[in-house]
Amino acid sequence: MRALVVLACLLAVCVAQRPRPCRSPPLLSGALSVSTQNEKLWTYAKYIYDALGQRVRIREIGSYQNQTFKQDALLLFRQGILYEIHDHNRTCKRVPLKSDFHPLEVPRNASLLGQAVVGSSSGPGQGLLINSWYGDIPQTGGKYLFTVSAFGCIPVTAAVQTKEFGWVATNYFNNVIGIPDPSMLNPPDYCLRADMEDVEPVDFFSVFHKNNE
Ligand SMILES: *[C@@H]1O[C@H](CO)[C@@H](O)[C@H](O)[C@H]1NC(C)=O
Ligand SMILES: *[C@@H]1O[C@H](CO)[C@@H](O)[C@H](O)[C@H]1NC(C)=O
Ligand SMILES: *[C@@H]1O[C@H](CO)[C@@H](O)[C@H](O)[C@H]1NC(C)=O
Repeated sequence: MRALVVLACLLAVCVAQRPRPCRSPPLLSGALSVSTQNEKLWTYAKYIYDALGQRVRIREIGSYQNQTFKQDALLLFRQGILYEIHDHNRTCKRVPLKSDFHPLEVPRNASLLGQAVVGSSSGPGQGLLINSWYGDIPQTGGKYLFTVSAFGCIPVTAAVQTKEFGWVATNYFNNVIGIPDPSMLNPPDYCLRADMEDVEPVDFFSVFHKNNE
C-alpha cells in the first residue's frame, strides 16, 4: 500500500515536471540578434514587446546584402501601421503593415525536443535550464525551433525556416519583464503628421531589411 502511494507521488512529480508549451510574459524588453542561413541579413536590435496592446518597437543596426543600415520602427499590429522613426531629423514614415500579431509562445501542438542546460550545471549562476520545442509552420511549410527558459518561459533562441533567407536564427538576451519606458510604444508627435505612404503593405520581416532608400 505504502509502495503504491510512493509510486503515485513519484508519478505526480513526473507529470508536474514534464515541460508544457507556454506563453512568454506579455510585457518584455531586451535585446536580440538575428542572422540568416544565406548570410543576407544580420542585425542587432533592442526590442520592446507588448502582447496586450499588440505593439513592438525595434531599434536596430544591421547589414542587409552587405549594406549596413540603422532602423527604428514601431509596429502597431491592431492598427496595421508601421512607423519608421527618424529621431535625428524628427521625421517619420507611416507604412501599412499586413502581418498579424504573433505572441511569443510555444504553440500548443509543438513537440518537445528536450530539456537542457545552457552554460554549466556545475555551479550556481553558471547555467540556465531551458526547454526546446519544434514544429511545422503550416503557412510556409517550414519548420521552427523555439527555446525558452524552463522557468518563466523567457525566449532564448528561435529558428524559423523561410523561403527568402533559409533558416532565420534569433537570439534573445538581457530580457527583463516589463516595459521601463511605455512612451516608447506610442508614436512621437511628429509621426502623427505623417501621411500613410502609398506603398504595398509590408510584413514583419521588412523591419529587418531596408529595401527602400
Ligand atoms: C557580400 O560580400 C561578400 C564578400 O565581399 C561577397 O562574397 C558576397 O557575395 C556579398 N553578398 C552580397 C549579397 O552582395
Ligand atoms: C530624415 O532622415 C531620414 C533617414 O536618414 C531620411 O531618409 C529622410 O530623407 C530625412 N528627412 C528629411 C526631411 O530630411
Ligand atoms: C498546430 O496548430 C496550428 C494552429 O494553432 C495549426 O495551424 C497547425 O496546423 C498545427 N500543426 C500541426 C502539425 O498539427
